[in-house]
Order: sequence, then structure tokens, then C-alpha cells
Amino acid sequence: MENRLLGLLVEARSSIEKAASLDELENLRVNILGRKGTLTSLLKGLSDLPRELKPVIGKLANQIKEEILAALEKTRRILADVESQRRIVEGAVDVTLPGRSLPTGGTHPITRVTDEVCAIFKRMGFSVAQGPEIELDYYNFEALNIPKDHPARQMQDTFYVSDDVVLRTHTSPVQVRVMEKQAPPVKIIAPGRVYRCDSDLTHTPMFDQIEGLLVDKSVTFSDLKGVLIAFLHAFFGSSAEIRFRPSYFPFTEPSAEVDIECVMCKGSGCRVCGQTGWLEILGCGMVDPAVYKFVNYDPEEFTGFAFGMGVERLAMLRYGIDDLRLFFANDLRFLRQF
Ligand code: PHE
Repeated sequence: MENRLLGLLVEARSSIEKAASLDELENLRVNILGRKGTLTSLLKGLSDLPRELKPVIGKLANQIKEEILAALEKTRRILADVESQRRIVEGAVDVTLPGRSLPTGGTHPITRVTDEVCAIFKRMGFSVAQGPEIELDYYNFEALNIPKDHPARQMQDTFYVSDDVVLRTHTSPVQVRVMEKQAPPVKIIAPGRVYRCDSDLTHTPMFDQIEGLLVDKSVTFSDLKGVLIAFLHAFFGSSAEIRFRPSYFPFTEPSAEVDIECVMCKGSGCRVCGQTGWLEILGCGMVDPAVYKFVNYDPEEFTGFAFGMGVERLAMLRYGIDDLRLFFANDLRFLRQF
């Protein structure tokens, strides 16, 4: 019995040492120590031994079991090490590969143009003002010298929230709000959304404007022209042809509209400019003294000019976009280009 136990130990050790994988090692453990294992079966013979031998052999059997367990554990550690090394090599994490970049968002062309226009005017000393999109009739019309029977107040142009509250139809009410709070000199631009009950190929019910207002002592129409030409040359390039055309706004007198040479046909006439060679881009004029009355400015002491431009129009000209609806369709193929 003793010899058989020792023989089993020698044999077990050598096969444990030769085990090539953790699976193989586990099989060995079961084959030796498991319920039907070689050692287990051997120990079943223990009861047939003479009484005095039982404690001696029992003790030896326990020692042998301990040794086998120790050998199993030793080999298990080695194999586990080898295994994890192999996984690292096989799993081949190439730390020199470039990372996967996340898609980044971009700035909407309307926002880009707005930012750019504001930057140009800031360089000329203007600061940025804002006003509410849901506006009182008073600021949107009344204080801008737009009388009750003016066509711009008719239902087809204006979204009415209630009798005296509207969605602002232009950014001009910001002029009044600023002058109401601030004595001259005033030098602001006011970008923002405006709303008109209008929808076709070239009109959307919501669009963007940028308003400008400069009031000070002895401001003249040539200041207006100088500032706007400087802006247009900064925005479209110094070779852009510009013309001022007389026009009418209830809140400016005299008033003008500014055209730029059509960027599509370079002035020869095309579908975009209606064969005129020119594109209208802003309205402007000297602030009408009637407006000063509403904000308690003295028209004898101060004069000023105001202007308003459509941002979508500027963006279309700037990027050669011929369909207004593209700005609002949220088509990523379009937006990714900016
Ligand atoms: N508010 C005018 C419009 O919406 C534009 C404008 C602004 C004209 C300021 C003159 C002065 O068309």
C-alpha cells in the first residue's frame, strides 16, 4: 500500500508537470483526486488494512494528497501566467493605432454668417443688443411710426399673438427698446429671428435679420453710406459693386435700399437676380424724428441712421446657395459642407 501510494505520487507529479493547459490540468486533478480518482480508489482499500497500519498509512495518504494538491497549484500558476501572456499577445491591442474620432458638430451657415457680420461691426465699435421675439405691437409698429392702417400691419404679414402682442416682423423694435433705456450716443447691432406670415420659394415664415442703429451728434447720410460700404466690402470683398436706391420705410427718412451686384451672373442678368444684375440686401435710412419722440431724444440735437438686413439672403450670396429651404431642412449632406 505504501509503495503504491508513493508510486502514485511520483506518477502524478510527473504528469502534472507535463500538463500543457489548464484544461488538461483540471482533467488530471479529477483523475487523481476526484470521486473515482486513482488516489480516492486507493484509499478505499484503507479499511482492509490491519488496525495498527491504518494511522500510519492514513497519515502518509494525507501527506501525498497535500503534495499532489501543491503540485497542481504550482503548475496551475505557471499555466495561468502563460495563458494570460498568450491572451495579451493574441488580443493584440496595438497602442500605436490612432484613436477613433467622434463626429463633431458644425456651426449652421446662418449662425456663421450672423457671427461674421457681428464681428465686422464690433470691429467698427458697435455692440450687440437683443430683444424679444414675441413683441408688443407698440415696439414692432407704433413706436416705429407705423400707423394703424399701414399695410405691414395687415393680417397676412403679421402673426398676431393677441390684439397688442405679435411675433416681431423685423428686428427694428430692438432700436426702440435700446433708445428707451440709453441716451445717445448709441451704436448697436441686433441679430435675431423674425416672423412673417409668408411662405413660398423665396420666403419662410421664420427668418433672420440683423439690425443696426447709430445715433449721435451730427451723424449724416454719408456716415450711413460709409459704414455700410465698409461692411459690405469686408463681407463680400472689396471689389463688390454696391448701389444705393431711394426707398421708403415709415421709421427712416430719407430711406434707401442697398443692392449688390448679382454674385451668380456678375451683373449680366440671370434667374436669381430677375435679370436685373442686382440683388437687394438691406434696407436703411436716417432715423425719422417721429421715432425720437417715442424715446425722448431731441431731434435737434441728435441724428442717426438705422439699417436692417436678411441673414439668409447674405448666406445665399456668400455660399452660392440658390434654395432658401436648404437652411431649414436639416439635411446633414447640406450642413456638413460648412
Ligand atoms: N425693418 C426693415 C425691414 O424689415 C429694414 C430696415 C431696418 C429699414 C432699419 C430701415 C432701417 O425690412
